[in-house]
Amino acid sequence: MIEGGTPLFGTLRVHGAKNSALPILAAATMAREQVVLTDVPDLEDIHVMLDILRGLGAQVSYQRRTVVVNPRTIHSTDVPEHLMRLMRSSIFLMGPLLSRFGTVRVSKPGGCTIGSRPIDFHLKGLAQMGAQIVDRHGFIECSASRLQGAQVFLDLPSVGATENLMMAAALAEGETVIGNAAREPEIRELALFLTQLGARIRGAGEDTIVIRGVDRLDSAEWGIGPDRVVTGTLLIAAAVTGGHVRLQNVRPGDLTAVVTKLRETGVQVLAGHDILEVKGSGSLQAIERIQTAPYPGFPTDLQAPFMALLTLANGTSVVSETVFEDRFKHVSELQRMGASIKVDLRTAFVRGVHELTGAAVEATDLRAGAALVLAGLAASGTTVVERVFHIDRGYENIELQLRELGARVVRTRQAGVSVLQAEG
Ligand code: EPZ
Repeated sequence: MIEGGTPLFGTLRVHGAKNSALPILAAATMAREQVVLTDVPDLEDIHVMLDILRGLGAQVSYQRRTVVVNPRTIHSTDVPEHLMRLMRSSIFLMGPLLSRFGTVRVSKPGGCTIGSRPIDFHLKGLAQMGAQIVDRHGFIECSASRLQGAQVFLDLPSVGATENLMMAAALAEGETVIGNAAREPEIRELALFLTQLGARIRGAGEDTIVIRGVDRLDSAEWGIGPDRVVTGTLLIAAAVTGGHVRLQNVRPGDLTAVVTKLRETGVQVLAGHDILEVKGSGSLQAIERIQTAPYPGFPTDLQAPFMALLTLANGTSVVSETVFEDRFKHVSELQRMGASIKVDLRTAFVRGVHELTGAAVEATDLRAGAALVLAGLAASGTTVVERVFHIDRGYENIELQLRELGARVVRTRQAGVSVLQAEG
């Protein structure tokens, strides 16, 4: 429940990145010895991944954002279906388990609210590396006595497929080249972690990655890097409330597209070595065009949060979502708060309005939910965001983080509408 209209002020440290931690946790199953990870964010998706590793037989502990994984006791490569259903990114376990143990069985990941999210690139790459793949009754079973290096070329620079195939190649026989690879910072971070384990990888972060397979991977200690999507969300929270916020433990270089667009709206952004500072301005200018794209383009994960900002900018902004086919579910919820948005297929025309008004709205996925919170911070009156479990998948105690910056927000257990009526 959010009382809008309060500019955010203060300093906050950004927590570790969910989308770095998840593939790195999967890669830990390839180590022969214990792996220690620090700054692992306390998020629902992380705990699901830890439960999956425990389900495979690994010994796993989580204390104050430090994870210790002992993969020596792994005795199964069957990813439990009920956990797979909770989080589709457990698909990252295919490459590691197949290359380390020679077999893996996962249940076919469902799509989710933002699109069908197929895994054909993952499967095609593993098949090129010699995996036998059987896809039946909703399960996918892969086996290979030893994966062989291959020349793989991705139709799209898929983050997950790049990560899965890089991990599979780390213990394969010979050299693997991944062409049209994703270049996200999480890919670079995963490659650095694998290298610490003993892998031999060149070119991570560029569009061609070369991996020379080795016979074994040992152990590593790794600090998870900061979450660039959480950073971007908090920058937008400061901008949309006209506040002044300083974020620590950030990598400005990972957010060039977002910072550039924020400055185009008239917001002042100062960048330090590991600091980003935002000073909101009284009025926001619309942006001619924002187009999401694979890194280093504008990140699809910040399309919804940024749209919340544009609903209050002077003029009409054009937002096109090129990565996922169905990632505008936040639009109808923003319209309930008075936003003026027209959607035509994968393009949204956002005409700025003078103000948003609080309403009962519903999160449909983690980034759409974050966008509704941002809109609530700027709206006049009370906004109640329902189904916040979506938001908890990607943001650690989002209401506590925002309260540290002066926001008036509480997490309630009651149904929103009754609370709104109680507010009168
Ligand atoms: C990762 O998902 C992120 N998740 C997503 O973040 C992020 O939105 C996405 O990358 C794009 O940046 C994690 O890292 C855990 P893709 P991923 O494979 O790997 C198509 C969040 O909010 N595709 O790069 O699943 C796919 O349908 C989440 O934290 C195929 O067609 O994304 C999509 O249109 C949401 N076949 C496009 O590629 C495949 O085999 C990009 O998907 C794989 C992907």
